[in-house]
Amino acid sequence: MSDKNNKIPFNEDNYTHNIERNNERKLDRRGFMKTLVGAAGVFAVSSLPWGAVAAKELMGLGEKEYPHKKITDVSKLPIGDAVEFKFPGDHDDAILIRLSDNKYVAYQNACTHLRCPVFWVKEQGEMICPCHHGKFDVETGAPTAGPPRRPLPEIQVKVENGAVYAVRVKRYEA
Ligand code: FES
Repeated sequence: MSDKNNKIPFNEDNYTHNIERNNERKLDRRGFMKTLVGAAGVFAVSSLPWGAVAAKELMGLGEKEYPHKKITDVSKLPIGDAVEFKFPGDHDDAILIRLSDNKYVAYQNACTHLRCPVFWVKEQGEMICPCHHGKFDVETGAPTAGPPRRPLPEIQVKVENGAVYAVRVKRYEA
């Protein structure tokens, strides 16, 4: 009596006996690799222009100049005082501080910790973030206390015809 029955397939008698499995696998793998390489190639070629745009944007960021924007008249900003403004966009909060006759500093004033607005405290000579007691050096924008680890982005300004203008945002140097 045979030990075969009709229910349990045996090794030599399974349901794929009519398929050359090794060849099937090879074909599958090759086909898959071809598709993969093809897809990667198409993706690489199609993303090239964007890579170039991104690289240009990133490299240009160091000296990114925006349309100059008048912040205030020199006569309206006494030494030691600060004024808030928007730069470069209408939603980018910034602060200009007049440190001496001819010395102005300006920063984007969203705290580099969790983006609370940073204030100039004249009496203490420091820029302070009230949210978690962060402090920044007014001369450089570097964090001096509290949780912030990165400096405030500096805005380059120029004085022309009795007014102070915002010119560009300096890139953050790690
Ligand atoms: S948001 Fe400024 S210290 Fe946390």
